[in-house]
Amino acid sequence: MKAARIALVAALLCGGAALYAKPAPRPSAPSPQELVTTRQAGMDMAAATLTLLKNASNNGAPLKSLAFPASGLAKFAGVMPALFADNTKGLPSRSRPSVWTDRAGFQAKAGEFAAATKALAAAAAAEDKAAFDTALASVGASCKGCHETYQVPPPAAKPG
Ligand code: HEC
Repeated sequence: MKAARIALVAALLCGGAALYAKPAPRPSAPSPQELVTTRQAGMDMAAATLTLLKNASNNGAPLKSLAFPASGLAKFAGVMPALFADNTKGLPSRSRPSVWTDRAGFQAKAGEFAAATKALAAAAAAEDKAAFDTALASVGASCKGCHETYQVPPPAAKPG
């Protein structure tokens, strides 16, 4: 009984100490694993956005209403290469080593993606259907163009 009471007091004290303990300082940069997860999440959301844009355009949605997702995709395309930082090289992922051994080629493919998504966002804002459809096809081609060389193919068929 007494032992139980001591244990309870000890537990409360420890809990209290944990409550007042200083939180571990937040690292000033994302960890390599966080970068890998962030780029994979961005890719997943890029695939979902592309599907949304295709469907909405096919269903005759006003293009201005698609400017928000299209410009979000363009923002991602603009910074995406930074998520393939050198310190993520050896981590498990579906990136081929060529992302880092042929950085110039990878950057060129990323540049095509950035240009196509920028054109897409501009076409949506301008309500220009012909330009939007052309840009949509270029975006899809830029995903495939990069994956062919720099991505380990998915085990089962996936969009992109
Ligand atoms: C410049 C190259 C490049 C472009 C452009 C690109 N990707 Fe990727 N993508 C990759 C690489 C490399 C991976 C593997 C990432 C990893 O696992 O580290 C990947 C992974 C993915 C994945 C799997 C993510 C996961 O959860 O594991 C999807 C889905 C995807 N891309 C979709 C797209 C779509 C859709 C587009 C175009 C709208 C696109 N990608 C454009 C290089 C690219």
